[in-house]
Amino acid sequence: MSIGIIGSGAIGTAFATTLARAGIAATISNSRGPDSLKEQVRELGPTIKAGTREQAARADIVLVAVNWGKLPAALAGLPDWDGRIVVDANNPIEAPLFKPVDLKGRVSSEVFANLVPGARVVKAFNHLRAEILANDPKGKGGRRVLFYSGDDNAAKAEVAALIDRIGFASIDLGSLAVGGKLAQFPGGPLPNQNLIKID
Ligand SMILES: NC(=O)c1ccc[n+]([C@@H]2O[C@H](COP(=O)([O-])OP(=O)(O)OC[C@H]3O[C@@H](n4cnc5c(N)ncnc54)[C@H](OP(=O)(O)O)[C@@H]3O)[C@@H](O)[C@H]2O)c1
Repeated sequence: MSIGIIGSGAIGTAFATTLARAGIAATISNSRGPDSLKEQVRELGPTIKAGTREQAARADIVLVAVNWGKLPAALAGLPDWDGRIVVDANNPIEAPLFKPVDLKGRVSSEVFANLVPGARVVKAFNHLRAEILANDPKGKGGRRVLFYSGDDNAAKAEVAALIDRIGFASIDLGSLAVGGKLAQFPGGPLPNQNLIKID
């Protein structure tokens, strides 16, 4: 099971940190190319490699964490998704102004899914601030909760297994239309709920 990451900013790096902690391999990419990531991957540790956007996109599971307005460019011209799993870690809001994007009533993951035709989209890794996501998820008698949602049960099962393997407690919120909306920032009730599931 290979893992790619498109976006090497706060969330892409936090996700890579959780993978590295569990000894899981991944290829991380950004808009500037692998050379710009040399120092960052050295700090992340030996399982995380720098790659091109195209190399990251060829993985079995591809997490996308890019500023909302830059998603079309970040996802343009990539190989066919061909049923591979794409994790939407994005929120429809832009720093530094944090002005919500007008989605015309649609759920952000459904808008996102249109940018990755043929992919099986799972919404996850978007409800916590990056610095919390990067922290060790185990402690206080349990594991930090990560939510996920999607319309393909097999894809969701693979993402849930990954979430559990990196030490979090996974909770299925249902379809993109239902779960995506619950976890969406802004608008949903779940963003920034830093919850621990007691084991
Ligand atoms: N920050 C948080 O705490 C947080 C929490 C939950 C969800 N989110 C969501 O996660 C997403 C990413 O946020 P962030 O805070 O990680 O942003 P960020 O720190 O600004 O990083 C964005 C990354 O996207 C990359 N990128 C931009 N255009 C690209 C392109 N054309 N091709 C490839 N990569 C491209 C940038 O590449 P370069 O480095 O080359 O510019 C950068 O690595 C956003 O949708 C945000 O709403 C963020």
